[in-house]
Amino acid sequence: MEEKIKSIFAEHFPYKTPEMYASAGRINLIGEHTDYNGGFVFPGAIDKVIMAAIVPNGLSQVRVYSVDIQEYAEFGLNEEDLPSQSWARYIFGVCREFQKRGAAVGGFDAVFAGDVPLGAGLSSSAALESCFAFAVNDLFNDNKVDKFELAKIGQSTEHNYCGVNCGIMDQFASIFGKKDNLIRLDCRSLEYAYFPFHPQGYKLVLLDSKVKHELVDSPYNKRRASCERVAKRLGVETLRDADIDMINSVKGDITAEDYFRAKFVVEEKDRVLAVCDALEKGDYETVGKKMYETHAGLSVDYEVSCEELDYLNDIAKECGVTGSRIMGGGFGGCTINLVKDSLYESFIKFAKEKFNAKYGHEPRVIDVVISDGARRLS
Ligand code: GLA
Repeated sequence: MEEKIKSIFAEHFPYKTPEMYASAGRINLIGEHTDYNGGFVFPGAIDKVIMAAIVPNGLSQVRVYSVDIQEYAEFGLNEEDLPSQSWARYIFGVCREFQKRGAAVGGFDAVFAGDVPLGAGLSSSAALESCFAFAVNDLFNDNKVDKFELAKIGQSTEHNYCGVNCGIMDQFASIFGKKDNLIRLDCRSLEYAYFPFHPQGYKLVLLDSKVKHELVDSPYNKRRASCERVAKRLGVETLRDADIDMINSVKGDITAEDYFRAKFVVEEKDRVLAVCDALEKGDYETVGKKMYETHAGLSVDYEVSCEELDYLNDIAKECGVTGSRIMGGGFGGCTINLVKDSLYESFIKFAKEKFNAKYGHEPRVIDVVISDGARRLS
């Protein structure tokens, strides 16, 4: 991919050799929809990246070509210069968020491509934001903006330019990712710890339902609003400070929908910590059990699953897979599966056959390796 991007860059912008940057998509072992509730998450960066060739151009214009979409965009750096292409808004947003923080950004020329599957719940958008945030920091700010702020720049880009009121998990994982390590992140304090992840005798595999996952204008923002209403009713800042007894105590004053959303969040918060403990003991059976519990909660209480993902979860159960659940924001995308090595081949074969028989296409199998996050390549 690197050579291809460099050669396309040379065609579009022949005058100068660019610097190369990359940032990663992410998986999340457990802790879904907890980030914007001040809870814990447990993600890791993966070996699927967005990669960009970038060079400052001395103008106040950004000129950028997307290899995968085969589109070119050109925009200025003022608020009114918002580009029309949705993919370019991620880059524009990153530039604007640097400016809002008093950091430097000038015009640049860029070409980028990626292998993070789009719409599969692997945070291709966070990878794009983090790649450009890392590059802008390196090229224009001598890396003076710290990594926490880089993650927040990506998150604010989603809020202010892309219409998704997301939490910090995806951008944090993309920026802070470390090879062979998952990250336990406390989304309230942003304290984090790396957990070496070498599941002996198990594999992590994603099965993409190919149901398009699109968080913009989605019920994602509505889920967040439900949680915020319940927190407000309880008089706490976020549901991090609530437990099931507190939620039960206001059950009569909130809608049934809000009740079930909040119930899921407080249960999920505890599951992340239980999984961290289990991992430290090498107890993958408990990890897997919690993954199934998360799936059930996301499907029934949080209502972010869909028929195809529930079916993939049932198939995993039927095969005796250790853990399986919908991953990411939901409304389509992938399941993440923790599978014993000995079961891997037969599970994949069985899942493909059964899913194909019901939906007329096979799920896409995505093997992931836990890898480094944002970085300069050259
Ligand atoms: C999306 C958001 C994240 C997080 C997850 C659900 O990926 O971008 O902030 O809320 O959904 O856990």
